[in-house]
This record gives sequence, structure tokens and C-alpha cells, in this order.
Amino acid sequence: MFVHYSLCVPAVCLLDSSSCGCCLMQRQMFRMESFFNMSLTELQRDLQRAQAALHNLRASRSAFSVALTDTRRCLGPFREDTVVMYQSVFLNLGDGYSTSTGVFTAPRSGVYSLALTVYSDAGSPGATLAACARLRRNGGVLASPSEHNMQDQEDSVSVTMAVQLNAGDRVDVLLPAGCFLCDSDNHYNTFTGFLLYATD
Ligand SMILES: *[C@@H]1O[C@H](CO)[C@@H](O)[C@H](O)[C@H]1NC(C)=O
Repeated sequence: MFVHYSLCVPAVCLLDSSSCGCCLMQRQMFRMESFFNMSLTELQRDLQRAQAALHNLRASRSAFSVALTDTRRCLGPFREDTVVMYQSVFLNLGDGYSTSTGVFTAPRSGVYSLALTVYSDAGSPGATLAACARLRRNGGVLASPSEHNMQDQEDSVSVTMAVQLNAGDRVDVLLPAGCFLCDSDNHYNTFTGFLLYATD
């Protein structure tokens, strides 16, 4: 016997006990269905949020790592400060680093990890050595690693930082006048950056 829910009122129980049982069962089923519908809606909303977060994460991938050169050569010393153009690209995920300008442009705002290693070789003992560079954000100096020593022939220095960058900020490495870097396929000079997490 089928009792439509709209007819299923407790009054029916006074008249017909089998209709009454059916009625109570229908009420119970309606409650369960509502409960499952609500749970399903919530799960779907959660899934959508998780998918959006994952999409955002994938879209914001940004990482680069470059070295000065693949062949044995030195850069500098120059009379003027010069932006270092790293030519050997290990990774340029998101195309943030430009080999034609030497500049990394942050694709979006976030906390970035930046690392710079410079190396120089005087060529002969006693010659002047000047492994120095400036890590810059929008032309402002973030760090100036340098190594000047008259006693040895080779010098290397590294710096690693976590910095907040805004979308469009430009990070580069400046070779100050008088400094010079030397490299080979050993990749002694590297410049690396990646987005740790986005903040927009
Ligand atoms: C549960 O969802 C289905 C499909 O959207 C709908 O047809 C049904 O009326 C809903 N039931 C309740 C009790 O809300």
C-alpha cells in the first residue's frame, strides 16, 4: 500500500495501522534522503574548493636555475656595473627568467627562495681576485656577496634568501665594476629562484 508523503499525517494512524507503518517509513526515508542530499552537496562543494586550490597551485608554478656558461670563460672586469646574463639554463618553469635581459620577473606575488653563487679565478697565483656580485630586487640591493683575497687564486661565495616579491618584481644579479666571474662546464656560477608559496 502506497501513501503519498503529502497525505502521510499522523491522523492516518488512528484510522489505518498498516498505512500508519508505511507513513512512518516514508518519513524516515525522506529524512535519510535529505541527510544524504545535504552530505553530497557539502562533499561536492569541498571537492570544488580542493580542485580550485590544486589548479591555482599548478598555475603558479615558478622555478628557474641558471649557470653563467657552459664553456670556459670569464665575465669582466668591466668599467661599469653590468647585469650578468646567465646563458646556461637548467630549468625555467613558468618562463620567469629571461636569457636576453638576465632578469627574473616574478609571475605572481609570494615568498620566493633566491640563491646566488659566484666564483672567480685569478688565472695565476698573486693576481688580483674579485668574486663579487649584487643580488637585486627592482634595482635595490638584496645582498652583496664578495670575496677579495690576495693570497689564493680562486674564490667562491654563496647567498640564499627567502624574500617577498610582488607580481612583476624584477630580480637580477649585478656585476659591479672591477668584479669578475669565471665559469666552465663545472657551473661554478649559479643563480636560482623558486616560488615557495603564493600570497595572493
Ligand atoms: C534529493 O536530491 C534529488 C536529486 O537532486 C531530488 O530529486 C530529491 O527531491 C532530493 N530529496 C530530498 C529529500 O531533498
